[in-house]
Amino acid sequence: MARRKIITGLDIGTDTIKILAACKNPKNEDFKVLFFDKINSFGLQKGRVINPQEVTNKISSLISKLQKTYNQRIDSAFINVNGSKLQIVPNHGLISVSPANQKVCQEDIDRILQETQNINLPSNREILDIFPKEWILDGEREIKDPLALQGVRLEVEASLLSAFSPDLENLTEAVTEAGLQVEDIIPSSLAASSAVLSPYQKELGVALLDIGAATCGLAVFEEGVFLDLSVFPVGSANITNDIAIGLRTEIDIAEKIKKDIGSCISLSQGSKKKKVEINPSNFLSSFKKEEVGKEESKKPFLTFSEKQLRKIIEARVGEIFELVQKELKKISRQGLLPAGIVLTGGGAKLPGIVEMAKRELKLPCKLGYPRNFSGLEKDCSLATVCGLVLEGQDVSQKSLSFGLDSRGLGAKIKRIFRIFIP
Ligand SMILES: Nc1ncnc2c1ncn2[C@@H]1O[C@H](COP(=O)(O)OP(=O)(O)OP(=O)(O)O)[C@@H](O)[C@H]1O
Ligand SMILES: [Mg+2]
Repeated sequence: MARRKIITGLDIGTDTIKILAACKNPKNEDFKVLFFDKINSFGLQKGRVINPQEVTNKISSLISKLQKTYNQRIDSAFINVNGSKLQIVPNHGLISVSPANQKVCQEDIDRILQETQNINLPSNREILDIFPKEWILDGEREIKDPLALQGVRLEVEASLLSAFSPDLENLTEAVTEAGLQVEDIIPSSLAASSAVLSPYQKELGVALLDIGAATCGLAVFEEGVFLDLSVFPVGSANITNDIAIGLRTEIDIAEKIKKDIGSCISLSQGSKKKKVEINPSNFLSSFKKEEVGKEESKKPFLTFSEKQLRKIIEARVGEIFELVQKELKKISRQGLLPAGIVLTGGGAKLPGIVEMAKRELKLPCKLGYPRNFSGLEKDCSLATVCGLVLEGQDVSQKSLSFGLDSRGLGAKIKRIFRIFIP
């Protein structure tokens, strides 16, 4: 029996790097998780690799653990790209359908998608992907799939995703130096969308917000097609920093306060005045405890009101939702997405964030968990890594049926098939 292909996803996040090796169950949509692990990251800033060597070290340690545990060589991975330098540029393409059969064939589609990517960009930017929004054949609009339709003049309205070339170089260097070939580079929020959104939600109109540590990625879909992507340089780590400043405490303690008792659930009248008292020494990690020694652990108790903590958290979460609202307004979808907004990423674990999003964005809202990966489905911080495996499986599947080796061809094949992937 042929061995099933192992797909590896590597989510290089600002807070943690996650790795997932899985293979698809041929009978259903589920994946068998072969290995999953994560490690605190180093060498990233706002989602972008700024120190490739540090990132390589972290990836190498994950890979050697994977190979030891799983006893299998892994030599390539699907990876994410993130950061506010990712941009969407709209463009329009036009070609004459090859006269040979007067029906749109695959070569025509490849050709128009290739030509539509030829735009003037600054020398340090490059096109990462192209997403057709609408096909037009002999003036007939709103065609979803032009393949095999009869016509002469084929046009496409498309979104081009452009990236900052040095970011891609640093990212690729960090991964290849760890001994992995890059199969494809996929923006974090698009990968997360594959893992948590259903085709039905994408058809209705939906936004996905990936709340990471240092970034929030927004991806919008409508009528089954990808419409918009933006990355805001703010995330859940900003909440931690605000708590540290607001309560005058250390970052480690602030992070623990956020995770253990942080929330944006509206307070009842009675609990507004409720005081929280924390013994900082109990909150410090063992490493930190050793470092600060006995004297430090005698620190006075930290006292604050629940209202004070709520206010700090809500101010930052409110700012994130304002950025989302502004972007939705820019693309004329403010309050107009029937499937609402789906929150995912580690920052979405904050209690009350869904209710706050409903209030602020005036949209339906829920949390997005990765589906199809048994054992990982309860953790929304794993949406991106699961999505990378899903996207990888898609590319490998399509390339196999065309008798191609997916490696290195990932992006090209994805471009060709993007139109058929809901
Ligand atoms: N229970 C929790 N409550 C609130 N925040 C949480 C909780 N658990 C994790 N977080 C926050 O989630 C963030 C990490 O999320 P995630 O792993 O999605 O980020 P990342 O992918 O590393 O970062 P980025 O996508 O911005 O590069 C951290 O800031 C962490 O504090
Ligand atoms: Mg992330």
